[in-house]
Amino acid sequence: MPTHQFTYTELTSDKELDSPYFDLLSEAKRITENAYAPYSNFKVGCAVLLQNGIVVPGVNVENASYPVGICAERSALSAALSAYPSEKIRAIAITYQSPKGDNNTPAFPCGMCRQFILECEYKNMQPIPLILGASTGIVYLIETAQHLLPFGFGPNDLK
Ligand code: THU
Repeated sequence: MPTHQFTYTELTSDKELDSPYFDLLSEAKRITENAYAPYSNFKVGCAVLLQNGIVVPGVNVENASYPVGICAERSALSAALSAYPSEKIRAIAITYQSPKGDNNTPAFPCGMCRQFILECEYKNMQPIPLILGASTGIVYLIETAQHLLPFGFGPNDLK
């Protein structure tokens, strides 16, 4: 029987991250406050680290017409691609603030964002590592967006 599995890293705290990833997650935490989430009160922040060292932020932006809202990941990646279309993405960090208060378990990107990140990874022509953290506590390191969307639909399917 074919199986699919992947390995990821679980750190007990962000203090175990190397400095570029620690800084990236810290920036994601800082900008999470900027989220416009008056309906869910669930604030998400995403920071995209580019090859040139620039960090592009994105937050979730909700809308009274609920489906119109956009997640932090797509917000950040769209901003990064808009401003720096030729710059490779080195990593993205994602974090959130729950209306229930501090949390120590990372949240994973939603399905639509996984598809979006995967497309960015195809364009990037190199893996995009994901750093997932909550306000405190454990941090997940995932090597590539492909691991979050096995058997994903991509450009090759359209050939
Ligand atoms: N949200 C994100 O920003 N990213 C995700 O991957 C999951 C969900 C946002 C969308 C909505 O504004 C709020 O979190 C609650 O679903």
